[in-house]
Amino acid sequence: MSTNLLAQLTRYQSQLLAFVQHDGADNYHHQFHPDLSPSGWHLGHCVFTENYWIREVIEGQALDDDQRALYVPEFAHKPGRGARLPDFSDLVAWARDQQRDNKQRFASLLHNRDKHPLLRAGYLGAFLVQHYAQHHETLCQVRAQRQLQTAPVHRVRQPLKPGDCFNAPTITLAAGNYTIGQTRRHRPYDNEYPAHQTYVAGCRLARAPASNADYLAFMQDGGYQERRYWSAEGWAWLQQAGVEHPCYWCRDEAGQWYGIGAGGPFRLKPTAAVSGLNYYEARAFATWAGGRLPHEHEWEAAARQGLLHGCGQVWEWCDNTFYPYDGFEAYPYDGYSLPYFDGAHYVLKGGSRHTCRVIKRPSFRNYYEADKRHIFAGVRPVFD
Ligand code: AVJ
Ligand code: FE
Repeated sequence: MSTNLLAQLTRYQSQLLAFVQHDGADNYHHQFHPDLSPSGWHLGHCVFTENYWIREVIEGQALDDDQRALYVPEFAHKPGRGARLPDFSDLVAWARDQQRDNKQRFASLLHNRDKHPLLRAGYLGAFLVQHYAQHHETLCQVRAQRQLQTAPVHRVRQPLKPGDCFNAPTITLAAGNYTIGQTRRHRPYDNEYPAHQTYVAGCRLARAPASNADYLAFMQDGGYQERRYWSAEGWAWLQQAGVEHPCYWCRDEAGQWYGIGAGGPFRLKPTAAVSGLNYYEARAFATWAGGRLPHEHEWEAAARQGLLHGCGQVWEWCDNTFYPYDGFEAYPYDGYSLPYFDGAHYVLKGGSRHTCRVIKRPSFRNYYEADKRHIFAGVRPVFD
């Protein structure tokens, strides 16, 4: 297990470094979206996070205060981050050097697990790997936002056609008590603990997340114009945002839809899950389809039984806000979950095409505010 963890950490270190190197010196300090830090910052942040846990917390060394002030999110105002980054080649050289050094430190700590409770059961390695994994996905969002701003208009060859009104196949979740929460061997986050039994009323969930063709049907049926599909808050958001389509959809000169992703323009396959929705849009779609959004317990209970199909294409919005399970304890620091139990963050389950396997598990809980649509998120309606 331990050599495994070391190999995994190495892989994630290289992946992030290569990602930022590939985006290059012209892009690394640029902020492409108000919610997304520049790619160079993500690299610095992930390396600093490694340094913090390995060197400061476990080995008791003092870290550089300027780096702390830049790379710890709470200390660094987001719009100012890009301008404060070191030169591209200095950043890359520093990151590579620190990663190599941290790998050696981590390898020797694996033989010295009594040194600190964080080393028990391989926790620290798994924690760092999952942190890299989450920032990898955020970097994919950065790339997709860059593509939205820079890719030339694409020509659609096979136009997307709307599906028939939403009559998707469903699966049935029987009423009963279900286990919710941590699957220990995955070394979960604090918000997945403690596992507990919860009663879930029976429901029918769409077998797969809503597709591009389904969503186009919603749009053509006045989805963005009809007040009745939207919650009061969602309608208020829509009036002010003036949005008419998913974040990652564009129209060509003939008015046909195509997608923009981290790799540039792509064909919106009719059966692929629609991506780039916020909570309000997901909810409006579910209402239009004659259903509602699932509670995260419904989603998790169904997922654990292997009932959900088409998982892992998009994060799936749930109808409930992020909250602590009974007996929650913040670990290994307050900042991961605690600040987001604020009634404003909604849970998302599953994972997208850009979500690494190490965090794709039924108990994993993602969380964003209702108006965030730069994430790779879609919708799976539920019917009662
Ligand atoms: C759980 C994806 C919302 O990216 O803000 C990364 C994960 N926490 N570093 C985020 C996270 C600390 C977090 N999300
Ligand atoms: Fe982070």
